[in-house]
Amino acid sequence: MILCANFKANKTRQETRAYMAVVESFVSANEIDDIVMVFPPFTALEHLSRNVLIGVQNAYPAQNGAYTGEITLEQLEEFGVKTILIGHSERRHVLGETQEHIAAKFRFFAEKGFAIIYCVGEPLEIREQGDEALMRYVDTQFVGIDCNYTDLIIAYEPVWAIGTGLTPTSDQIVDMHAALRTKTSAPLLYGGSVKVDNASSIMALENVEGVLVGSASLSANDFCEMIAQASQLKQNERENECL
Ligand code: PGA
Repeated sequence: MILCANFKANKTRQETRAYMAVVESFVSANEIDDIVMVFPPFTALEHLSRNVLIGVQNAYPAQNGAYTGEITLEQLEEFGVKTILIGHSERRHVLGETQEHIAAKFRFFAEKGFAIIYCVGEPLEIREQGDEALMRYVDTQFVGIDCNYTDLIIAYEPVWAIGTGLTPTSDQIVDMHAALRTKTSAPLLYGGSVKVDNASSIMALENVEGVLVGSASLSANDFCEMIAQASQLKQNERENECL
């Protein structure tokens, strides 16, 4: 399983340090072999990453240059960051990133060998138009994206489920992940109102290989609990195989 904590614009450097101390010691004390990633705000980046991968929530696709307010590859390299979220719905819908810009970002960071967590997902009005419209919409989010890129992870995050407490039904997640599976062999994550109460059942669904967690990941203890659930699922699977 792959478990990602997306802090968005939350936590100071000091709070992030304290958080990382909790999660890193949990991961080593419990010999967790699932992949755990944290995406803090830029101001909390530090050049240290032990058993938890640190990624960024965004960056501008350039080595450096005149891009006021952005950060580029040069600044990421200083912190040894090699993991990036691209296409998150807040970048698309709140910050107005176009598919063209997102694809340019994807190409740039893929060329630099980054692990890319590429997010797709539909707004509610599209979901309400039925399956065909839904898939047509999600397809547009793959324009210019290389689904065969080796270091790719896809996160399906319905816009209407992000930060709302609403989650799709299990069938809706399974159907979307099955459709995504026909496009790519990359691991598929689900994101959108994942929390301690539903993480385990979501991770147990077919073609769900992890979760991208926003609000509920802000508590280090809750995030650790979700990591423990992933580990427990794997343990159960092993036991079932032995029966
Ligand atoms: P949420 O956010 O868990 O708060 O819904 C998920 C995300 O935006 O990645």
